[in-house]
Amino acid sequence: MNQHVTHGESDWFTHGLPGLHRKIDAILKRQRKEYGDYYYFYGQPYQALSILGVYGERSTEERFEAYGLRELIKPTDRVLDIGCNCGFVALYTSFRTGCRADGVDINPYMIEIGNLCAEYLRVDDRVKLTAARIQDYEALAQYSVLFSFATHWTDDENYRVPLREHFERCAAYLEAGGLLVFETHAADVGNEAFYEAIKTFTDIFTVESKRDTDKGERHLYLFRRV
Ligand SMILES: C[S@@+](CC[C@H](N)C(=O)[O-])C[C@H]1O[C@@H](n2cnc3c(N)ncnc32)[C@H](O)[C@@H]1O
Repeated sequence: MNQHVTHGESDWFTHGLPGLHRKIDAILKRQRKEYGDYYYFYGQPYQALSILGVYGERSTEERFEAYGLRELIKPTDRVLDIGCNCGFVALYTSFRTGCRADGVDINPYMIEIGNLCAEYLRVDDRVKLTAARIQDYEALAQYSVLFSFATHWTDDENYRVPLREHFERCAAYLEAGGLLVFETHAADVGNEAFYEAIKTFTDIFTVESKRDTDKGERHLYLFRRV
């Protein structure tokens, strides 16, 4: 006899999606009406999360694989994602690896979407997403890994600090020997001033690796906290 139960616990993942999408649409509608600030990608999330069918500009699953996060992140890691947008990279990394992850972004609507998705994926017990400015964020822990993806300066101009200040902030969140996974902007590629600045941070970080991502449009660096 077929014991499979539909619309019940065994199928929550699929059957709940239309409800999740309705909630996300309502949040995006509110963002368009209420958020005076610049928003990315025509008011859609900057990040996509295909596993939940959430539309956005950049694929979380692709970045997770391309950046080697499956190999880099261990279940015992505690990750902080700064300027995390919906926090999809943080929560998907937690979903795939079992690590704990915190995220912070200035946009409360993106954080609301991220928290809904974390709850949906049942990782909300180990993922905490907070709406705050990076400059004001009070760390919940000393982190073993920090993600800084396309966030060392922002198009919305809510974060424009000298590069040195950004790296010092990252270092302060990390334990000694911690890992900074750093994605550049496209504008940094080929920018000699950027490369020269990176070379002056050897008192706080050593460069473990550097490679191209996004078809050569960006770099991905791994830095180790001294
Ligand atoms: C280009 S997006 C990058 C998002 C994410 N790191 C990624 O790569 O998928 C920049 C993000 O930084 C956020 N942001 C801008 N200024 C911020 C600030 N002062 N504090 C926290 N987040 C900020 C924006 O809301 C946006 O989600």
